[in-house]
Amino acid sequence: PPLGAMVNLNDIEESAKKVLSSTAWGYYASSSETENSHLNNLASFKRYWFRPRVLREVGQVDMSATFLGIPTSLPIFVCPAAMAGLGHPLGEVNITRGAGRTGIIQGISSNASCTVDEVAEARTEGQPLVYQLYLTKDRAVSERMVKRIEELGFRAIMFTVDAPVLGKRELDMKSKPVASETGGGNVAGSLAGYFDVNIGWKDVVWLRSITKLPIILKGIQTVEDVEIAADYGVDGVLLSNHGGRQLDFAPAAIDVLYELRQKRPDLMDKMEIYLDGGVRRGTDVLKALCLGAKGVGLGRPFLFANGAYGEEGVVRVVQILEEEIGIGMRLLGVRSLGELRPEMVQAIDARVH
Ligand code: FNR
Repeated sequence: PPLGAMVNLNDIEESAKKVLSSTAWGYYASSSETENSHLNNLASFKRYWFRPRVLREVGQVDMSATFLGIPTSLPIFVCPAAMAGLGHPLGEVNITRGAGRTGIIQGISSNASCTVDEVAEARTEGQPLVYQLYLTKDRAVSERMVKRIEELGFRAIMFTVDAPVLGKRELDMKSKPVASETGGGNVAGSLAGYFDVNIGWKDVVWLRSITKLPIILKGIQTVEDVEIAADYGVDGVLLSNHGGRQLDFAPAAIDVLYELRQKRPDLMDKMEIYLDGGVRRGTDVLKALCLGAKGVGLGRPFLFANGAYGEEGVVRVVQILEEEIGIGMRLLGVRSLGELRPEMVQAIDARVH
């Protein structure tokens, strides 16, 4: 179906399912074991309902934000996700171009199909990029990588901390009929091995010591670890269960955010809090912002859009979210993101599935 017929992000996912190779679909769509982490990510937003205000003169709304001081047209970013090249020959570069055209920030995976030099080359003037780091066993390799992305003008590092081992992703495993003897025949398996599985908080100290770039810890899943992250002086945390691809039955980020809002709202003044996982609607974004998130990331929707429609698909994803966020803000009675307040959402049992 033509891109113009895509009304929401689920439509784009349906298109991707029809056109992607089984390897690409298997790798992108898979989540771990019973898939409950991912399914719960999607369902979690239905547990939060709005308390909208009216008669607030919402003729003009401003959807712009800053992440770590970096301006963004919308409070959303592209999550770092590996292997955009499985879905489209131009890989991450397409997403970089789409992000540039729409004014949002893109995270580049350590396992991107394109090199950091290629994505940097595809930027528009001043377009911000963030680098997602997995630590290699040989720290000198990681250190050289950090220096390279600093030279290229990347603006921050997302240090992924939820992957000491890869989750068991069964759709991905099944999408390759002949697995190698070691079981590493699937896409995810072939990416492991090179990275250090034995990382600890000392490595956050190490990373802080080798770069002045802002550091966001990606993959924090409890209030306890947000507290530790604050003690270690990182600039932000990304509440995430890796799109449900790591621990099965891991908490949805919006639930962790809700608990953080109740127990330690003070930490939201110390660090910037982000979330990802299952965000598919403008209202999902607004709920997270009401509860104190600075911004919200999306992973699969950009891979699916790139796979099915290339750069134009990436732009369309952002346009759909922009429209939905704008409608949502007006109907909530806010004119800027700063007016979104915790009292504008309430947690309740899901009413609709
Ligand atoms: C990811 N994600 C991820 N995260 C990371 O830190 N490094 C990586 O290389 C990857 N690779 C990756 C590949 C694919 C195919 C997916 C779907 C995801 C996780 C990603 O950054 C993000 O946390 C989730 O994608 C968010 O969930 P949704 O939006 O996909 O539901």
